[in-house]
Amino acid sequence: MYGKTVLDVGCNSGYHLWRMVGAGARLAVGIDPMALFLCQFEMVRKLLGGDQRAHLLPLGIEALPKLNAFDVVFSMGVLYHRRSPLDHLYQLKDQLVSGGQLVLETLVIEGDLHQALLPQDRYAQMRNVYFIPSVPTMISWLERCGFKEVKMVDISPTTNDEQRTTAWSSEQSLADFLNPDDPTKTVEGYPAPLRALFTARK
Ligand SMILES: C[S@@+](CC[C@H](N)C(=O)[O-])C[C@H]1O[C@@H](n2cnc3c(N)ncnc32)[C@H](O)[C@@H]1O
Repeated sequence: MYGKTVLDVGCNSGYHLWRMVGAGARLAVGIDPMALFLCQFEMVRKLLGGDQRAHLLPLGIEALPKLNAFDVVFSMGVLYHRRSPLDHLYQLKDQLVSGGQLVLETLVIEGDLHQALLPQDRYAQMRNVYFIPSVPTMISWLERCGFKEVKMVDISPTTNDEQRTTAWSSEQSLADFLNPDDPTKTVEGYPAPLRALFTARK
């Protein structure tokens, strides 16, 4: 991360941008189409004394031209919200310099090559969830889009310790979205959330 130019796609309020700056990034740019997150980000920047090493643009990934400019591109928790996951992967690739690194985090299911879950409606009460691939399927999508050195570096079930209600959060969290009689399933009957982290090179 040290000295790198980084793009965080779907950066939300920009929390990870500040962590990237803290890890030595030269410049951390985030994009997220929700205007509220820009306000939250700029509030934190003000509290930090106006630090200019991180910036948030209120844009969706589809609004970016092919910049071919970033050493590292992050996409965390975005792929399954995109109706066309392969287009998302190409859009991420278009932002990287040649040889640049993609860090992609997504929901996955257990399963074989070519398997992916397309929920009929909500998934764990989340709206706008489209394709949730198995790990071999995710690797094959990345390779199909021309990424090299594709690796899965972590896979973890989401726990109630990680996603829980707090005084600062909404009133419901993961525990409310799992089947009370079988927490290996969501309330809709799908496999409970399992998340994986992949790295790949352009
Ligand atoms: C599940 S959140 C993940 C937030 C953050 N990346 C994280 O890991 O904590 C998904 C984020 O993607 C953003 N998003 C949705 N559509 C997007 C798009 N077309 N381009 C970029 N970001 C998008 C949402 O506004 C939201 O902040």
